[in-house]
Amino acid sequence: MTQIVVLPHGELCPDGAVIEAAPGQSVCDALLENDIEIEHACEKSCACTTCHVVVREGFSSLEPAEDLEEDLLDKAWGLEPCSRLSCQAKVGETPLVIEIPRYTVNMVGEGKR
Ligand code: FES
Repeated sequence: MTQIVVLPHGELCPDGAVIEAAPGQSVCDALLENDIEIEHACEKSCACTTCHVVVREGFSSLEPAEDLEEDLLDKAWGLEPCSRLSCQAKVGETPLVIEIPRYTVNMVGEGKR
């Protein structure tokens, strides 16, 4: 199992958390399994940005994002160079430190479907 340190988030995880994920599992699924209810408005189909996380450590160990993910990330609130969509980022063998941004932009809203 691979360790993921989740930095504190006011609503989802006020004290931060340290969780374990199976390699190959998405970061989003790992969070949800550990009762950190990150938004995932498009049901993890790479069609929104609500599952955006910033990977503070271990970013370079992840498989690079596909073009679609990159395009969506451009629209995410609080984009950083080490931002990923957590439903698309698969955990590897390297421990990660992630931060859940304070806000999300729900791209699945009106007129987008
Ligand atoms: S849940 Fe929509 S892109 Fe991840």
